[in-house]
Amino acid sequence: MGCTVVGIDNMVLGKRSNLVQALQSPNFIFKELDVNDYETCAAFLKSQSQQGPFETVWHLAANSDIQAGGLNPEIDLKATFLTTHNILRLMQALEIPEIAFASTSAIYGEHPGVLHEDAGPLFPISNYGAMKLASEGIITAALERFLKRAWIFRFPNVVGSRATHGAIYDFLKKLERNPAELEVLGDGKQEKPYLHVSELIDAMIHLCENTKERLNYFNIAPQSSATTVRYIAEAVARAAAPGAKIRYTGGAKGWVGDVAKFSYSIEKLKATGWKPRLTSNEAVDLAIKENLAQKR
Ligand SMILES: NC(=O)c1ccc[n+]([C@@H]2O[C@H](COP(=O)([O-])OP(=O)(O)OC[C@H]3O[C@@H](n4cnc5c(N)ncnc54)[C@H](O)[C@@H]3O)[C@@H](O)[C@H]2O)c1
Repeated sequence: MGCTVVGIDNMVLGKRSNLVQALQSPNFIFKELDVNDYETCAAFLKSQSQQGPFETVWHLAANSDIQAGGLNPEIDLKATFLTTHNILRLMQALEIPEIAFASTSAIYGEHPGVLHEDAGPLFPISNYGAMKLASEGIITAALERFLKRAWIFRFPNVVGSRATHGAIYDFLKKLERNPAELEVLGDGKQEKPYLHVSELIDAMIHLCENTKERLNYFNIAPQSSATTVRYIAEAVARAAAPGAKIRYTGGAKGWVGDVAKFSYSIEKLKATGWKPRLTSNEAVDLAIKENLAQKR
């Protein structure tokens, strides 16, 4: 509360229009920069730290286009792994003590059963998951060297307003182009937990305020529920283009590296006193409404 936030994004996937509200705040400073451009970032952050030292880095920069990363491994090496490496270098140079890191269910790979935080061994099946797991590894190594505290948040699928990717976003775009037919990758039986972005933010802030280990790592998800891709496709079609024919391309996975089904344990998160309000289907329904309202 009352903090100044300095945001950096190279806008390769981000949208400036999503920052319109934030930019109105006198407590938000934004600079379009590539965090892998170490020298420029170091100079910028040093100048900003004249106003007072940085307390925490919220590291959310990554490649969020998992399919693109499957086709070209360089993308996740640079955007998902080297961003973490360079952010840790910047943190060491500027003596920033704490990091909060956006990790993912993809680090678990196709692990059988409910995913607990201490599941293992971990064998990711996407370059994205591999580079996120490697990022977790260099964060824990940095704790040995100079970092004072880290929070690792393993997100499920996140939905909500101002989306730039994901199933709801893709389906709405496809129906905009062709309202008569919706092509869905896979057989529609993929089933994953979807969390609304408002609940994700609420959970992360709760965890930063209420967990004080040197290393704090948590799954964040809706309460023991998941949503099928078929549910999302039918709900989006109903809302955006009633009567559209849904055509499944077939096969259990949507794309190479897609973990088609998983289920998250959030017992560790609940033990800290945080509970999700929405089920996975409710989060999806709300996000469809929000994304449709934005288009108009
Ligand atoms: N949305 C989800 O379902 C989900 C699930 C699991 C994890 N995550 C993680 O949460 C974080 C936020 O994801 P999102 O869904 O908002 O995706 P996003 O693409 O909107 O956000 C990632 C941002 O990182 C920026 N970026 C990439 N490389 C950069 C670089 N070199 N320098 C500066 N900025 C760079 C992109 O421009 C983009 O704005 C990511 O780390 C993502 O891996 C998201």
